[in-house]
Amino acid sequence: MIIRECSLALVLLVSAWAFPKPPRTIPPANPSDPDRLPDGIQKRVLVLGGGLAGLSAALELAERGYDVTVKEKSDVFGGKLFTRRVDLPGLGAFDVEHGFHAWFFNYHQFKDIRRRLKIDNNFRVWKAVHYIFLDYKPETIYSEGPYPLNLLGIISRSPNIKLTDAILSSLMLPDLDFFDYDTVYQKYDNITFDQWATMRGVQRDLNDILLRPALSVTLNEPRAISAAEMLMYMQLYFLTNAEADHREVTIYSFGKAILQPWLDRLSELHVELHSNYSVERLTISDQGQVTGDSKDAVVYDHVVSAMDIVGTQSVLNATLSYYGNKPIITDSLSKLWSKVSRMKLAPPYKVLRVWFDKQLNASTPDILETPQHTPVNLVAQYHRLEQEASAWANKTGGSVLEFHLYKWAHGDVTDDQVWTIISPTVKLIYPEIFERMFNILGYHVNSFENFSSFELNLQMFRPNSSFPMECGLPNLHLAGDWLKTAYPSALMERAVSTGREAANQILLSDRVKQVELIVTSSKGPGIL
Ligand SMILES: Cc1cc2nc3c(=O)[nH]c(=O)nc-3n(C[C@H](O)[C@H](O)[C@H](O)COP(=O)(O)OP(=O)(O)OC[C@H]3O[C@@H](n4cnc5c(N)ncnc54)[C@H](O)[C@@H]3O)c2cc1C
Ligand SMILES: *[C@@H]1O[C@H](CO)[C@@H](O)[C@H](O)[C@H]1NC(C)=O
Ligand SMILES: *[C@@H]1O[C@H](CO)[C@@H](O)[C@H](O)[C@H]1NC(C)=O
Ligand SMILES: *[C@@H]1O[C@H](CO)[C@@H](O)[C@H](O)[C@H]1NC(C)=O
Ligand SMILES: *[C@@H]1O[C@H](CO)[C@@H](O)[C@H](O)[C@H]1NC(C)=O
Ligand SMILES: *[C@@H]1O[C@H](CO)[C@@H](O)[C@H](O)[C@H]1NC(C)=O
Ligand SMILES: *[C@@H]1O[C@H](CO)[C@@H](O)[C@H](O)[C@H]1NC(C)=O
Ligand SMILES: *[C@@H]1O[C@H](CO)[C@@H](O)[C@H](O)[C@H]1NC(C)=O
Repeated sequence: MIIRECSLALVLLVSAWAFPKPPRTIPPANPSDPDRLPDGIQKRVLVLGGGLAGLSAALELAERGYDVTVKEKSDVFGGKLFTRRVDLPGLGAFDVEHGFHAWFFNYHQFKDIRRRLKIDNNFRVWKAVHYIFLDYKPETIYSEGPYPLNLLGIISRSPNIKLTDAILSSLMLPDLDFFDYDTVYQKYDNITFDQWATMRGVQRDLNDILLRPALSVTLNEPRAISAAEMLMYMQLYFLTNAEADHREVTIYSFGKAILQPWLDRLSELHVELHSNYSVERLTISDQGQVTGDSKDAVVYDHVVSAMDIVGTQSVLNATLSYYGNKPIITDSLSKLWSKVSRMKLAPPYKVLRVWFDKQLNASTPDILETPQHTPVNLVAQYHRLEQEASAWANKTGGSVLEFHLYKWAHGDVTDDQVWTIISPTVKLIYPEIFERMFNILGYHVNSFENFSSFELNLQMFRPNSSFPMECGLPNLHLAGDWLKTAYPSALMERAVSTGREAANQILLSDRVKQVELIVTSSKGPGIL
């Protein structure tokens, strides 16, 4: 007991000196090179994959005079942010996304892109996060003031967390206060987040209410996720400064709010955009230059591979098989494959959107997180978020609700079975839907299994954006949310940041001034 009290005192003492950590700028490595390719020089870049990572690389390069071609397997661009026009019998056509997303304070590269595309007005602030639990009272979590006052505020407002439990859990604070991105994976990638919480004596209520909910947004199996990865999430989304957990959402579909303006800008810069184009394998010259892809005769100067894990693995595997008898090429490819082949996927998930004939009462939150109601993780009231759904709801008195169903464990089921399977759980969340007998007018289901796994012991194999160069493929670059970065980043921000890194490697090799990156501090608030 004495030891625990002393440690709390120590932590509070340290925290009193805690400083918010401003983001850090990574300046161009070649500041005196010209801002764009000199007139008369033509350079062709092929970008594989039209998700956020690929679109980010394409934007930087096209703005600097490159001839960029983007090839995307799906019929729509945007990757996991994609939006499709969906026809619902009897209701009309609606924009439906892959699933609800939120943008956070530390999304510095994404904010820069938003500003340049002039789409900031398509976002609005999402103030407090509402949670309900099975074994606790509902929580409304918002952060005010600098760390650690924001943390103490949340604990003191909580109807669930007992101060004594917070004190007993104080042994976890040094790992947060003295977070160090440069060593955290060495220390904690070999244990799960749950093992870390046990080791640090984090009390169950604090873990269930403050820590575990953050974990479900990774779509990963909570019992397997790496402690290091989760501590990095805490740094990125909570610890660096008082605003770190502030979120924003779009007021139109992602297609209208983000992707169309982005694609329009790329078209204006003469980027060739090919959707519905599945890349099969790379073509590589006898000198080890990657020249493009096997369905296209054009020879490119550089290739950015910005596909998801499944796409990257299948393209590399096919390339390796094809060049099997050319050691000069396969030596490099095998080195690359040795890391890429180790990457794994998170469990399958579904996103269900339902059009109802009635609306939930006005006191229900726009977005509700339900970390203990597996398989439902989140319910978003789209008619309160996006204009199109809002207009429809105002006209008809109906509502549009989206249910995120992570860790789908009910196997292959048809879309019309999904609602029946989750109904008992939804009844616990919003009984009103059943008591007032809401009718379903239409629905749409997205089913996927391609989200990156961040389970323990993967970081040592995770390649970074310049790893192909290290393998002897100097004009191939990687981008995507599954790569390793030299600074804390995750999800959409990691996708756009690695896209910019890939562009920067190309700019440096062609002696064009690189683009700066603004990144989250690697050090926790307790480190001066
Ligand atoms: C339900 C859900 C909710 C999420 N919520 C959030 C959130 O709130 N905040 C947040 O920051 N992030 C969130 N994310 C994560 C975010 O969507 C991703 O991190 C990000 O979009 C990944 O971008 P990417 O470009 O790296 O990969 P992807 O979006 O996967 O793009 C890769 C692209 O490569 C294409 N491709 C694959 N194979 C080939 C091939 N052979 N040829 C050509 N193209 C190919 C794919 O079709 C795809 O378009 C969420 C994700 C999901 C699924
Ligand atoms: C994800 O995986 C599904 C199949 O599981 C696939 O159809 C889809 O194209 C993949 N990519 C994206 C961005 O969803
Ligand atoms: C994890 O790695 C650390 C540091 O290398 C080591 O001290 C610890 O024993 C390892 N833990 C497990 C469970 O392997
Ligand atoms: C995609 O391409 C295939 C053939 O490559 C074609 O049959 C299909 O109609 C195309 N789909 C779209 C949406 O363009
Ligand atoms: C790699 O390709 C071979 C055939 O060339 C196939 O048998 C194997 O399943 C593929 N592996 C992956 C991970 O795609
Ligand atoms: C729908 O009605 C609400 C409440 O009156 C209003 O705030 C909102 O702007 C309306 N939506 C649209 C698209 O007109
Ligand atoms: C509104 O819905 C919530 C959640 O279902 C419920 O707890 C609350 O009692 C309802 N309020 C009214 C006024 O119906
Ligand atoms: C990738 O990792 C290598 C080896 O650790 C390092 O030298 C290189 O700078 C890293 N690249 C990026 C873009 O971080």
